[in-house]
Amino acid sequence: MVFYGVLRYFETVNFHLMAVISKKSDTERVVASSPKETDKHENSLRPKSMEDYIGQVEVKKNLSVFIESAKKREDALEHVLLHGPPGLGKTTLANILAHEMGVNVKTTAGPALEKQGDLAAILTNLREHDILFIDEIHRLKTPIEEILYSAMEDFCLDIVIGKGPAARSMRLSLPKFTLIGATTKLSMISSPLRDRFGNVIKLEFYKQPEIEQIIKRSSEILGYQIADSAASRLAQSSRQTPRIANRLLKRVRDFSVVYEDGGEIGLPIVEKALSALGVDDLGLDNTDRQILTTIADKFHGGPVGLSTIAAATNEEQNTVEEIYEPFLLQLGFLERTPRGRLITDRAYKHLGIESPQRQASLL
Ligand SMILES: Nc1ncnc2c1ncn2[C@@H]1O[C@H](COP(=O)(O)OP(=O)(O)O)[C@@H](O)[C@H]1O
Ligand SMILES: [Mg+2]
Repeated sequence: MVFYGVLRYFETVNFHLMAVISKKSDTERVVASSPKETDKHENSLRPKSMEDYIGQVEVKKNLSVFIESAKKREDALEHVLLHGPPGLGKTTLANILAHEMGVNVKTTAGPALEKQGDLAAILTNLREHDILFIDEIHRLKTPIEEILYSAMEDFCLDIVIGKGPAARSMRLSLPKFTLIGATTKLSMISSPLRDRFGNVIKLEFYKQPEIEQIIKRSSEILGYQIADSAASRLAQSSRQTPRIANRLLKRVRDFSVVYEDGGEIGLPIVEKALSALGVDDLGLDNTDRQILTTIADKFHGGPVGLSTIAAATNEEQNTVEEIYEPFLLQLGFLERTPRGRLITDRAYKHLGIESPQRQASLL
């Protein structure tokens, strides 16, 4: 009993803390698609096999063929480049590929590789058919990228030892490995690098039923029952992104634990949690809506410059552009024009404000 009381106290504190944090800065937003500190237990929800990986039907179909072929030929999988917005399952898929191939995976990230030697050390430690996963591969430094070229193509490593006239180059052979690169910015990958990937795969945003399925799977893993209506409502606000769906689910779980002693998660507790978190039925948070209402109210729907929007909403220009705008553009709520940003009729409709055109036509 005492134990339960203590547990409940911590859950409550945790919840209040969370509510404070979620308003504090955009990188801590509950609907951010990039990983947050609180997602560090994400691993437990990560599907381990192709079978558990929900959605991305075409991608899965093709990859399964490549896997089967490589296995039959007793060869390594061809290099794979995965691209798409954050939170759609690139890291998960890379690990699944290793699992399905029955090989080891070594994981690193573009910004983590400082010197050519860092990559050389990793490459020379790989075993035959192993997978090297490089996340954020668009952030590789050029000299490091250059040693990847011969590693990927000829499975050898050209390294220069020493400096100046005494320098000499050495060629080391590498085991036949598979490189899996992941990026959110395909356009930032140089063409020589891109051309060396046998498979370039784009992950798409998930459909509503797929997100619902992910939510149900995750709640089962977390040990909570969730009603269909609750899963469906939660999926609506998840921005078609599994990472956001899982995060919202955990926050709803917190509300359920605190207010309903953790029984089956129903629609009312989902509604209560989402409104407390300021997340609406399209997954927009307070700042998203503030950006739209600012353009609507103060600038008659635009066009208005990015710097003006940033100043009016008290956000950094970069933050508005990189964190908030992509989803508003994807929803068709915002348009970028040479003269600035415009909000669309759809956005007016969502905000419940009459658009200027409609106002004019009513006059
Ligand atoms: N297809 C999927 N099915 C089920 N869960 C998924 C799927 N894709 C992603 N997830 C979940 O979303 C989280 C984020 O996925 P991740 O692979 O880290 O995304 P990315 O690397 O693209 O940013 C994972 O922890 C995983 O639980
Ligand atoms: Mg990732």
